[in-house]
Amino acid sequence: MLTATNVTKKFGGLVAVDDVDFSIDDEEIVGLIGPNGAGKTTLFNTVTGVHPPNTGSITFNGTELIGKTPNEVAQLGIARTFQAVRTFNESTVLDNAMIGAIFGTDESVSKTEATDRAREALAFVGLDDRRDEEAGGLTIADRKQLELAKALAAEPELILVDEIGAGLTPTEIDEITRTLERARDERGVSVFWIEHIMEAIMSVTDRIIVLNQGEKIADGTPAEIRSDDRVTEAYLGEVES
Ligand SMILES: Nc1ncnc2c1ncn2[C@@H]1O[C@H](COP(=O)(O)OP(=O)(O)O)[C@@H](O)[C@H]1O
Ligand SMILES: [Mg+2]
Repeated sequence: MLTATNVTKKFGGLVAVDDVDFSIDDEEIVGLIGPNGAGKTTLFNTVTGVHPPNTGSITFNGTELIGKTPNEVAQLGIARTFQAVRTFNESTVLDNAMIGAIFGTDESVSKTEATDRAREALAFVGLDDRRDEEAGGLTIADRKQLELAKALAAEPELILVDEIGAGLTPTEIDEITRTLERARDERGVSVFWIEHIMEAIMSVTDRIIVLNQGEKIADGTPAEIRSDDRVTEAYLGEVES
């Protein structure tokens, strides 16, 4: 579905993403891990048109993404959530979800259609009965579920999730993990998930990609990643010690 080849992104002299190849298949949940500054968010930005790479190719269902704007990438079926929660806190929960439905749609969607998609996505994350409340009144965990609803309201084929678990309790992280798993199981969405919380990422991913200083150092099943000496040295030793 998503295929990246020889992707390099430099900021001045800094090579944030260094000649990275990877792919994401249909209905796959793939983790992206690595130390802070490894290039994980930048890799998402190369996919979504925010920071086009200096070199390389990224195709989605055969269409080249490089040169497309973030809006065009969204319309092709790739949604994302951000490391920092981006809800509009003075808008209602429903209006926040509708932003996703409108931004990610290729034809000019009617207000009724956008409302239907937004409410359906809110119901999926358990927030439809709170649709008329201000988003700012939700707990952090619910605002993160709202971010997922906003992404899912676009009816994407792939969702990129950037560190959604940070600051949540173990129970809340488990709920987010289950939402992502259900998105795959019930809606056929592929998930590419940056996360530092190893228990969550190991429990649900089919495969994990590891970045270190911009380079891909491993790509395998959670079990393979756990027993990879390079990964332990660069990252897992640090987060799990
Ligand atoms: N917009 C930017 N301008 C300059 N440097 C950046 C920019 N975004 C990220 N970087 C640098 O690129 C490297 C990778 O950052 P990032 O992708 O945010 O890492 P991660 O998400 O893995 O923590 C870091 O050294 C960071 O400082
Ligand atoms: Mg990041």
